[in-house]
Amino acid sequence: MKTYMMNNGVEIPAIGFGVFMLTPDDCERCVIEALESGYRLIDTANAYMNERAVGRAMKKSGIKREEIFLTTKIMPCDFGYEKAKQAINDTLARLDTPYIDLLLLHIRFGDYIGAWKALEDAVSEGKVKSIGISNFEEKQVIDILENGRIVPQIDQIECHPYFQERTLRKLLDKYNIRVESFYPVGHGDKKLLSEPALVALAEKYKKTVVQIILRWHTQEGFIPLPKSSNPEHIKSNLEIFDFTLTEVELENIRALDTDTSYFASHLSAITEEEHSRQYLDRPHPDYNAQK
Ligand SMILES: NC(=O)c1ccc[n+]([C@@H]2O[C@H](COP(=O)([O-])OP(=O)(O)OC[C@H]3O[C@@H](n4cnc5c(N)ncnc54)[C@H](OP(=O)(O)O)[C@@H]3O)[C@@H](O)[C@H]2O)c1
Repeated sequence: MKTYMMNNGVEIPAIGFGVFMLTPDDCERCVIEALESGYRLIDTANAYMNERAVGRAMKKSGIKREEIFLTTKIMPCDFGYEKAKQAINDTLARLDTPYIDLLLLHIRFGDYIGAWKALEDAVSEGKVKSIGISNFEEKQVIDILENGRIVPQIDQIECHPYFQERTLRKLLDKYNIRVESFYPVGHGDKKLLSEPALVALAEKYKKTVVQIILRWHTQEGFIPLPKSSNPEHIKSNLEIFDFTLTEVELENIRALDTDTSYFASHLSAITEEEHSRQYLDRPHPDYNAQK
C-alpha cells in the first residue's frame, strides 16, 4: 500500500475505506472485506454509530493492530476541553483499542479550540498518534494554527471533481496539512459517474469511472475515503495503482470543477449561525447505544 508522510513524520495510507451510513452489521462485514482486500485505513466517527463494529472487525480480521490506520472523529456536542477528554476515552472504549491513529474534530462549531487542546494532550498521553480537523474552512484553520501547539496533520473535506476546494487547499498546502477527500466519488452521484471526460478515460485505461476518479485523487496527493457495501466495489476501488493519468488528463479532470458541494447544497438556504445551532442545540446523542 502506497503511503504518505504527514507533517508529524507519521505515515498514512494513500487511500482509505469510509463507513459512513453503514449499520453495525454491514459495517463489520464491510470492514472485514476491506481489510482482506488490502485497505489499511478505516475512517469512522462517533456520529456514524458503528465504532464498536469497526473494533470487532479489526479483531476478527486477524490483522495486527499496528498494521491498521484507524481514524475517528468527535462532534461539536463534545467540544470544550473537559468534554473532549471524556469523549476520547469513550471512543477508545467503543473501538476497543489502546490508541487511535488519527482523531479529527468533525465539524467547525462550538469550542473547537478547547477540544483541540484535549486532542493535543491525548497525543502527549499516547492515546492518539495524529490529529486533524474536518469541514474546517480557512477562518477556523487559521484559528487552530494561531491558538494550538500542534499544526493539524489532516483536513478531511468534501472533495471530488465537481468540488475541488482550491482556495482552502492553498492554505492547507502552506502548512503541509494533507487533504483527505470525503464524498470522493460524489456520494455515488450518477451524473458524475457518467461524465463524458471520465467515461472516455475509463475506456482508454480499461478501468471504471470510479477507479479513474480515485486515481485522480491519489495523483493530486489527496487521500480518498470511498465507501461501499458491495464486495466487488470494495475490491475494485483499490485497483488504482497500476496505471497513471497524464498531466493533460489530470488537467481535464480539474476543469470539471463547478464548485458544487453535495454536502452543503441542502444548507445553502441557512446561515452559518443556524448551521452551527443545528449541531449545538440538539440533545447529546447516546453514542454508547450501539451494537
Ligand atoms: N468528515 C465528514 O463530514 C464526512 C462526511 C461524509 C463522508 N465522510 C467520509 O467519507 C466516506 C465516503 O463518503 P460517502 O460514502 O458518502 O461517499 P462516496 O464514497 O463518494 O460514495 C459512496 C457511494 O458510491 C457508491 N460506490 C462506491 N464504489 C463504487 C463503484 N466502484 N461503482 C459504483 N458505485 C460505487 C456506493 O455504492 P455501493 O455501496 O453500491 O458500492 C455509495 O453509494 C464516508 O464513508 C466517511 O468515511 C466524511
